[in-house]
Amino acid sequence: MRFTTSLALFVLSPLMVSSFPFRSIFSRLPFPRTSPSSDPICSLPGDPSLILSVTCDLGSNKLQTMKDISSLISSVTGKPESYVAVSLTDNASIIWGGQAGPAALGCFYCIGQINKLNNGKIQKGVSDILKVHGVGEDKIYINYFDVERENCGWSSRTFAG
Ligand SMILES: *[C@@H]1O[C@H](CO)[C@@H](O)[C@H](O)[C@H]1NC(C)=O
Repeated sequence: MRFTTSLALFVLSPLMVSSFPFRSIFSRLPFPRTSPSSDPICSLPGDPSLILSVTCDLGSNKLQTMKDISSLISSVTGKPESYVAVSLTDNASIIWGGQAGPAALGCFYCIGQINKLNNGKIQKGVSDILKVHGVGEDKIYINYFDVERENCGWSSRTFAG
């Protein structure tokens, strides 16, 4: 046991020593290292957004459909609706299984709140909303992305400041 420990130290100690100069080299590199920002933007809820394309013509129902989706997103994520953005393209060209027909494709992005329960609620809610317009639940794909604050831009900077 003792022998194993001293052997491990013997093997690791040159690594520990050799890693030391690397740290000082990195600290001298010209690009800034990430440091915590004190910008108040860092505590804002951030941007949940859905970009959705549907094959059907929503006509005069389009704005209401977008509002329904917006309200759904706000209630599922718990984020104020003032931060929720929805882009809905109707009359989109989508094929599914090699065939044209009613279908929808979407990407949902959010800083946190992306998990099995919430994603399922949004998938169900959007399916219910689109069912009225003839899109079957088995012809809707939405991909869910949990976004790092620093990878979400808003207000001339990012939600990480
Ligand atoms: C969708 O297609 C219909 C029928 O072709 C057309 O009347 C309508 O203006 C289109 N809607 C949009 C948003 O382009």
